[in-house]
Amino acid sequence: QQGPWQLVLSYWPYFFSGLGTTLLITIISIFFGVLLGVVFALFRISRFKLLNMVTAAFVEFIRGTPLMIQIMFVYFGVGAFVNIPALISGIIAVSINSAAYVSEIIRGGINSVPKGQTEAARSLGLSAKDTFTSVTFPQAIKNIWPSLGNEFISLIKETSIVSIIGVADLIYQLKAVQSVTYQGVIPIVIAMIIYFVITYSLTKLLNHFEGKMKHE
Ligand code: ARG
Repeated sequence: QQGPWQLVLSYWPYFFSGLGTTLLITIISIFFGVLLGVVFALFRISRFKLLNMVTAAFVEFIRGTPLMIQIMFVYFGVGAFVNIPALISGIIAVSINSAAYVSEIIRGGINSVPKGQTEAARSLGLSAKDTFTSVTFPQAIKNIWPSLGNEFISLIKETSIVSIIGVADLIYQLKAVQSVTYQGVIPIVIAMIIYFVITYSLTKLLNHFEGKMKHE
């Protein structure tokens, strides 16, 4: 006779594939999120007023609307004109959403370096470019890195919203296991544990790197 836990756990391939999808979306979105985030941050600190304003408005709009609506907008809205698979729609929406947050993290990190640092470097005769690469940026990255780590961890959890458009991530699969096993709670507990193990390991890993940076 099989207990309820055994029954639910026998559907482990569902959880496994759900986790795979969740991690896939997270990893691709982190990549494009950081890439685009750097671009947005550069636009924000650039001297071109128009570029600056348009980017600021876009970033604020993304941060001011729920990720859930953005995902639905890409899938159903943009999807009405060009057919985009749900998984790709999810990745696009999560990447752009993350880029908005990443750009603010980078901008904040750069702005947190005291002005006197730049002034001192410039008066010592360093060019604007050298000042940025060898004075401002090395200090900014110390503030940027921990926040970027938090963003990665948030994303693992936030991607769960893609299940709304039918992407078979961990949340979607947990619901599938609920319906085949008639077990309401156990699949939830298992998914919870999986999320926690992943985010907790990542936290530890990032703290390790952060500690290393401090010793330099
Ligand atoms: N859940 C919130 C929302 O729907 C926050 C999203 C956070 N996104 C991020 N990349 N950190 O808007």
